[in-house]
Amino acid sequence: MNKSAEFKLRPDWDEIEKIRFESAGYLQTHGLSDERIHSLSMIISELIENSIKYGNFKIKEKKVTVFIGLNNDTITIEVLNPVDKGAYKHLARLDKTIQWIRSYQDPFEAYIERLKEVAKKPLHDEESGIGLVRIAYEGKALLDFFVGEKNMLNVSVVSNLEKEDRG
Ligand SMILES: Nc1ncnc2c1ncn2[C@@H]1O[C@H](COP(=O)(O)OP(=O)(O)O)[C@@H](O)[C@H]1O
Ligand SMILES: [Mg+2]
Repeated sequence: MNKSAEFKLRPDWDEIEKIRFESAGYLQTHGLSDERIHSLSMIISELIENSIKYGNFKIKEKKVTVFIGLNNDTITIEVLNPVDKGAYKHLARLDKTIQWIRSYQDPFEAYIERLKEVAKKPLHDEESGIGLVRIAYEGKALLDFFVGEKNMLNVSVVSNLEKEDRG
């Protein structure tokens, strides 16, 4: 089985729920369990939120692209958004966060560390830095990114599919 789907959305918060719903429908059609769909929806939402928060939509492509690739053993989710020079600070932070997660053998430990740090911070901090580590831990997933053609940032998440992930 080698399947894929692509969704495009405007960088608006209202769009997240729509894509969440559509992608969940797609995953259901392909036989994934409710539990797995739930965690994949969390991943998709977190990645889209980041695209909206940190992407640059003033020029060029004004959309966020969500790609879902499925084969027998793995699921890949890619979320793309345009970036410009102003985003370099965030790209560096993205890189640092992904490297930091990888430095733990078990992403659960990284998740706990981040939760402890967040607990020390003041409330209403929009950049809690919990999204990516939550993806790694709850989504049992490997994160990566690159900046490709036309300054499109591609953040990808790959996760193994086990027997119990099939509904
Ligand atoms: N799509 C993206 N474009 C640019 N930078 C990003 C993107 N996604 C994440 N980042 C960077 O990685 C950091 C960590 O992301 P995340 O764990 O989701 O935390 P948060 O969104 O709460 O800041 C962000 O603060 C941001 O600097
Ligand atoms: Mg985030």
